[in-house]
Amino acid sequence: MAGDTPPRTSQAGVLEPEAIGTQRLDLSPLRLEHAAEMAAVLSDPALHAFIGGTPDTPAELRARYRRRLAGSPDPAVSWLTWVIVLRSSSCLTGTVQATVSAGERGAGAEVAWMVGTAWQQRGIASEAARALVAWLQRRNVRRVIAHIHPANSASAAVATAAGLAPTAERSDGELRWSRDLRP
Ligand SMILES: CC(C)(COP(=O)(O)OP(=O)(O)OC[C@H]1O[C@@H](n2cnc3c(N)ncnc32)[C@H](O)[C@@H]1OP(=O)(O)O)[C@@H](O)C(=O)NCCC(=O)NCCS
Repeated sequence: MAGDTPPRTSQAGVLEPEAIGTQRLDLSPLRLEHAAEMAAVLSDPALHAFIGGTPDTPAELRARYRRRLAGSPDPAVSWLTWVIVLRSSSCLTGTVQATVSAGERGAGAEVAWMVGTAWQQRGIASEAARALVAWLQRRNVRRVIAHIHPANSASAAVATAAGLAPTAERSDGELRWSRDLRP
């Protein structure tokens, strides 16, 4: 059973993403070759309404993915990214990511999600986020948090689907959502 397997690590404490399957989706660890297709999937400026910035060109996204895949300079921090593949069409539809930081009382993860406009409102982000949080739980992560703009109702719904709840904490105008995975 997946829950019994030890965490796969590349070096002391650094988690590596693994393939995760759900009913409709394959979450595949990010590879540099995903950049070209993903740049087209994520090319709608509307995706940045609540998170700032603008869509990356394929070259910019490839450079971003290269930095992400190189890993955090802090050995206590793991940068994990998956592309979301809709199995029935074999298309890339978006990404989920987790930044996992080791702590004295156990690891904590900050998670985020993005689904291309053409693929939205089909439950893809919710299904992917639930699977991501379950994977983090199997990896003994103690707490999952997300920062969500108060008007980003779609992202709030995704966080709720993954078992997170809003807290009273704000940072840079975003609300902190949180879920404890261990007592
Ligand atoms: C947030 C986001 C990932 C949701 O993706 P998605 O695949 O459409 O999400 P789901 O289909 O799982 O929908 C989740 C809920 O949001 C609702 N929803 C989705 N898009 C919506 C929209 N544009 N407006 C209002 N509600 C929306 C769905 O109806 C669903 O509601 P329900 O749980 O009550 O049924 C996507 O809108 C996105 O990528 N936004 C831009 C990036 C972003 O803001 N990321 C979050 C950073 S914190």
